[in-house]
Amino acid sequence: ILRLLSRHDLEGELVLVTAGGTREPLDPVRYIGNRSSGKMGHALAEAAFKRGAKVFLISTSEAAPHYQGMETYCVDTAEQMYEKALELAPRSSIVIKAAAPADYRPQTSFEQKIKKSSDGLSVQLVLNPDILAELGKRKFPGQILLGFAAETQNLRENALTKLTRKNLDIIVGNLVNIPGLGMGAVNNRITIYTKHETVELPEQPKTVLADQILDYLVSYRSKAGS
Ligand code: CTP
Ligand code: CA
Repeated sequence: ILRLLSRHDLEGELVLVTAGGTREPLDPVRYIGNRSSGKMGHALAEAAFKRGAKVFLISTSEAAPHYQGMETYCVDTAEQMYEKALELAPRSSIVIKAAAPADYRPQTSFEQKIKKSSDGLSVQLVLNPDILAELGKRKFPGQILLGFAAETQNLRENALTKLTRKNLDIIVGNLVNIPGLGMGAVNNRITIYTKHETVELPEQPKTVLADQILDYLVSYRSKAGS
């Protein structure tokens, strides 16, 4: 029913969306993670699905939407997300990386629960693979790659650096240190950047922003193809 009520401008597209913060295990009960809730990614997956796309969703959240005809995969860690994303990306005409993979993981995940000690605890962290940068290297002609940039300062400069470094078409920048906005929140304020354009959007619910991001993506692609 959802699909019948909306415009079908993504009919025939395969859209891969990643969502949520990854959880990097330290022992059987603890992990290192971040505040990402997956809401933005889930909203994008749902909006693309309603607009007629075939959607692959890779999410770390139990709240991930499941619809008939949408393939939802649940993962925990950045390495699991990496594996699944690299498997699905070659089939996807549009890739949207709304997830917040942890940049680091504990070098070892202990098999037994770590016992507390008055000595404190030091944990060695190692770098996780950069999923989006890898997808950027493997991007094929016509494939659209959209990333996010979560920043606490210098939004424009940092977002544009990531756009170039990861070989993206579009990057959605958001400041993550404004109370009530961004990570975990219902609303967000974003700026969309491409090599040639900057579009600032007012604060809105992520469900509304999802359709505006897709509108932008569709028009970007029709311009790129013409
Ligand atoms: N990303 C990714 N794999 C990672 C880290 C980030 O695919 N291991 C993706 C995110 O999904 C997002 C984009 O890269 O679309 C930017 O994430 P962000 O954390 O803002 O940038 P980083 O490249 O990790 O740089 P830093 O955290 O140092 O600012
Ligand atoms: Ca990061």
